[in-house]
Amino acid sequence: MKRRILVIGIGAGNPDYVTIQAVDALNRVNVFFIPDKGIEKDGLARVRREICERFIRDQSYRTVAFEVPRRRPAAEDYGTAVADWHDAVEGVYQQLLMEELEEDECGAFLVWGDPTLYDSTLRILDRLQAKGGFELEYDVIPGITSIQALAARHKVTLNRIGQSIAITTGRKLAEGFPNNADSVVVMLDGEGAFAGLDGDLDIWWGAYVGTPDEILVSGKLREVVGDIERIHKQAREQNGWIMDTYLLKQPD
Ligand SMILES: C[S@@+](CC[C@H](N)C(=O)[O-])C[C@H]1O[C@@H](n2cnc3c(N)ncnc32)[C@H](O)[C@@H]1O
Repeated sequence: MKRRILVIGIGAGNPDYVTIQAVDALNRVNVFFIPDKGIEKDGLARVRREICERFIRDQSYRTVAFEVPRRRPAAEDYGTAVADWHDAVEGVYQQLLMEELEEDECGAFLVWGDPTLYDSTLRILDRLQAKGGFELEYDVIPGITSIQALAARHKVTLNRIGQSIAITTGRKLAEGFPNNADSVVVMLDGEGAFAGLDGDLDIWWGAYVGTPDEILVSGKLREVVGDIERIHKQAREQNGWIMDTYLLKQPD
């Protein structure tokens, strides 16, 4: 039996970000696999639930919640920690596909933002396909990324005329500002890596973008860095979790 899966990008926070193509896809799904990601789960699960209730005409679909294995802190070797984590997640996905999908049914993963940006779903499905043992076919529906949402809310163009944009993580930024980069978008920054940078940079920062809790701050880094650090800390304490992204540009 062939397993059919849709990997649907649902946009990064606001249910209005869901595209017409995603709505069509949502209406073809029999089983939604919903990750349980611990503390953030309430906020993220609320948006996923709202999307399913609002956009699916026939509410007879099933949902299967699954526990996402935790990645161990990667102080020693980031690559090995991620590879081990992928093995564990792959096992969980395989079990879901083998045990929860009936003949001719379509399963789906609803991916925050877009499935091709800092998300492992496609990599894991590719690994399962390569491993063989059962037939798996999947399609990808693009979604609005947190980068697009951030730029739109700040009404800022990501690139300067004719220049390039780098997309990176807080971990990489902590090693230094990307060489030759003019504009840099930073994601997955738990530690506030912007604080160690040249104060002359311009920053456009956003947390929970697109959601009712959205916070936006922008300005010269040296003038707003303290505000962002304070707001970041407060928001994380209040909500128990935070998702923030920012754009940095070299001064004109
Ligand atoms: C695992 S990545 C997922 C990215 C997602 N696939 C996308 O297309 O945006 C999670 C990171 O995305 C960023 N992010 C996602 N949603 C966000 C939002 N609503 N507001 C601000 N940042 C967000 C944060 O940097 C967070 O650490």
